[in-house]
Amino acid sequence: MQKVKVDLKKEVDSSYEITIGSEYAKEILQKLRDEGCFFMVDENIFELYGDFFTHDNMFRFRADEHNKTHESVVAVLGFLFRCNARRDSKMVITGGGITGDVGGFVAATYMRGISFIQIPTTLLSMVDSSVGGKTGINFRGSKNNVGSFAQPEHVYIDMSFLKTLTDEEYLNGVAEVIKYGAIFDADFFTYLEENKDKVLARDLETLAYVVKRCCEMKALVVQKDEKEKGDRALLNFGHTFAHAIETDSDHVVKHGFAVAAGMYLETDFAVKKGDATPETLQHMKRILTDYGFDISYEIIDKEKFFNAMLSDKKADKKGLTLALTPSIGSGKILKNIPLQSVVDYFNNL
Ligand SMILES: NC(=O)c1ccc[n+]([C@@H]2O[C@H](COP(=O)([O-])OP(=O)(O)OC[C@H]3O[C@@H](n4cnc5c(N)ncnc54)[C@H](O)[C@@H]3O)[C@@H](O)[C@H]2O)c1
Repeated sequence: MQKVKVDLKKEVDSSYEITIGSEYAKEILQKLRDEGCFFMVDENIFELYGDFFTHDNMFRFRADEHNKTHESVVAVLGFLFRCNARRDSKMVITGGGITGDVGGFVAATYMRGISFIQIPTTLLSMVDSSVGGKTGINFRGSKNNVGSFAQPEHVYIDMSFLKTLTDEEYLNGVAEVIKYGAIFDADFFTYLEENKDKVLARDLETLAYVVKRCCEMKALVVQKDEKEKGDRALLNFGHTFAHAIETDSDHVVKHGFAVAAGMYLETDFAVKKGDATPETLQHMKRILTDYGFDISYEIIDKEKFFNAMLSDKKADKKGLTLALTPSIGSGKILKNIPLQSVVDYFNNL
């Protein structure tokens, strides 16, 4: 028997930088236009920042969870094809997490993958979805179950975009920010507790620290485990229950709000199983309610809810995998949790 090794680690360097600042997006977009890039932009961003987008090669995308589909992927692929985009072309994706996930997936598949740049415009996409290379769409009612790992060439974060975000969409991102503190950094969690008013007021100095700290944490975990074989799954804290909430509510409950309720309910579940301390639950409850999140959820359709949990990518034949926070700042992954124990938990709420 002979063996040949395909040593990819040395050949492919997918490192990239995240630039964080304010009031510079217009300039960078003009520069990228002059370089001949192809643009995909969230329609609302186009309406709000029309003078940033004087480009010819532009696809306007309506960011809606129901539009995070293969039909949208086909539409964007068609746009690239019609514009004669080539293998060495570059795509610039400007918008929130939905636009970023769909655009990233298109870039990952067009001609087997072209370079792309993420310019996130929501808090959620700045601190989470634009970094780390997870791209994808919802398929047959399940969240993000078709996609690929593809790292962007650069992420440009211009926090000035946050000025036009609605309070609801802003809070949507705050849930992911709280998640970082809960699983990785107790000091950051305390910072968020102590600086709640500044965070909610979108104080730029506070945000500069918050966004940078979240990106650092995400970069660290992605560096160690790009394809989510280990510790990256910690970032799924709250997300297993959240995916079920999003699906059951037909996306009426937005991702971040579902994650907030998911973090609380998963911690409550963990406390009842002896995997988290009651103090942690109190801490989670306090910060989430202080920030204005609803931490309860009434299931509409039990079959749909639990099926969504089972079709979650984190589930396998042996059961569910949950990322939990036994104590603030130290996340832990728990595997092989029987679905029945989760069903019983919700039935006894
Ligand atoms: N890839 C990942 O690692 C990852 C991580 C977390 C979440 N996600 C995905 O991200 C998606 C949620 O992303 P999102 O919360 O950014 O939602 P989104 O993309 O739908 O944006 C929310 C809304 O805000 C609008 N908008 C965007 N930027 C704006 C701005 N600056 N001013 C005014 N309006 C603006 C959009 O048009 C949209 O209506 C979900 O589909 C989720 O699955 C992906």
